[in-house]
Amino acid sequence: MTANVSSPDMSALLAEAAQRLMEGRLVAFPTETVYGLGADAENPLAIARIYAAKGRPSNHPVIVHVAPEADITYWAASIPPEARALMQAFWPGPLTLILPRAQHIPAEVSGGHGSVGLRCPSHPVAQALLRQFASLKPNGQGGVAAPSANKFGQVSPTHAAHVRAEFPELSTAALMILEGGPSQVGIESTIVDLSRIDQGIGPVLLRPGHVTAAQIADVLGIAPARPDVGAPQVSGSLKAHYAPRTPLSVLAMDDLLRAVDATADPIHRVAAVVFNVPVAAANGGNVDWLVCANKPDAYARELYALLRRLDDQGYARILFEQPPRNAQWQAVNDRIGRAAAAFS
Ligand code: TXA
Ligand code: MG
Repeated sequence: MTANVSSPDMSALLAEAAQRLMEGRLVAFPTETVYGLGADAENPLAIARIYAAKGRPSNHPVIVHVAPEADITYWAASIPPEARALMQAFWPGPLTLILPRAQHIPAEVSGGHGSVGLRCPSHPVAQALLRQFASLKPNGQGGVAAPSANKFGQVSPTHAAHVRAEFPELSTAALMILEGGPSQVGIESTIVDLSRIDQGIGPVLLRPGHVTAAQIADVLGIAPARPDVGAPQVSGSLKAHYAPRTPLSVLAMDDLLRAVDATADPIHRVAAVVFNVPVAAANGGNVDWLVCANKPDAYARELYALLRRLDDQGYARILFEQPPRNAQWQAVNDRIGRAAAAFS
C-alpha cells in the first residue's frame, strides 16, 4: 500500500502528529522496516516517555530519524567519508549509521553514550512526518527518536494494529498512531557503527538487515567487521530478543519431524513453519503445517506478523525449519535465532 500523504485527511493527521511531537508527546509511525515509537529527539522528557512506554533500560540508545534533506552535521560531531558513501548509496532506506554525537544533542537519546544512531526512512508517511516536524522547529532541524513500537524484548510491529495491541494501557490521547499499511521490509534496519573511525576502528555491522553486509562491502571496499568487545551496545544484539510468548525452536527438517512426533497431541498443538510440507507429514490433526516464502526478503516481510498470529492461536510450540545458513539469509537467521534463544 502506498499512503497518500497529501490527502486532506492524512495532512490533518500529520499536522496533529507533528504538533504532538513539539509538545513532547509520543507518536507511533510507519517505516519501511517496522513501526516506530517516536518522540522529539531533542526533548529529554519526551525521550523518557519512550523508555517508560517500552519498559526499556534507559542506557539503551534510540535511533534518531531524519528527513532526506536534514543537515547531518547538526546531529553528528564528525562524518567520515564512509558515512557519506553509505548515505549516498542507501538513504533513504533501511540503514542506520552510528556516528559521534554532536555536543548539543541530548545524551538521553543515546542512553548516555557518546554516539548517535541516524536513519533516514523511505516510507512516505515517515518522511512527511519528519519534514513537517522539522518545519515547526525554529532552526528547521528536527529529528524523531524512535525505537521499534513494541515492549522491550518483544516482536517488532509491522502493522498499525500491532502497535495498538502492544500498548493497551496508552489511550489515543497518550499515543497517536499513524497508519501506513504493512511495513515492506518487515525486519529492523541494518546498523553499521562508524563512531570509532577516528580511533582507527573501521565499520562494524551491529545488526544485520535488508541492506546486506555484501552490499555495504561493495560501497566501502571492505567488509564491515563483526562486533568487538568495545563495539556499542545494541539491545537487538542481546542473545534473546524479538521473542513471541510461545516457545519457539529453529530445527533442521529431521529434528523438526522428531519434535512434532514428541510434542504434538490433541492438547499440545504445534505450528510448523517449513519451506515444503514433508511428504510423510506426521501427526495429522495436531500439527498445522505453514509454508513460508523461500526468498529472504519475502520471508522477512511476513515474519513478525506470522509470529504474532501464531502467538494468538494457542499453540504449545512453534517450530521453524532452519533456513539456509548463508549470507543472503543472515538477517532472517539472526531474528529467528534470537526469538528461539529466549527459550533455550
Ligand atoms: O528499523 C529500525 O531501525 C526501527 C525503525 C523504527 O526505524 N527501529 C528500531 O529501533 O529497530 P530499536 O530501538 O528497536 O533498535 C535500535 C537499535 C538498538 O538496539 C539500539 O541499541 C541501537 O539501535 N542504537 C541506536 N542508537 C545507537 C547508538 N548511538 N549506539 C549504538 N547503538 C545504537
Ligand atoms: Mg526494537
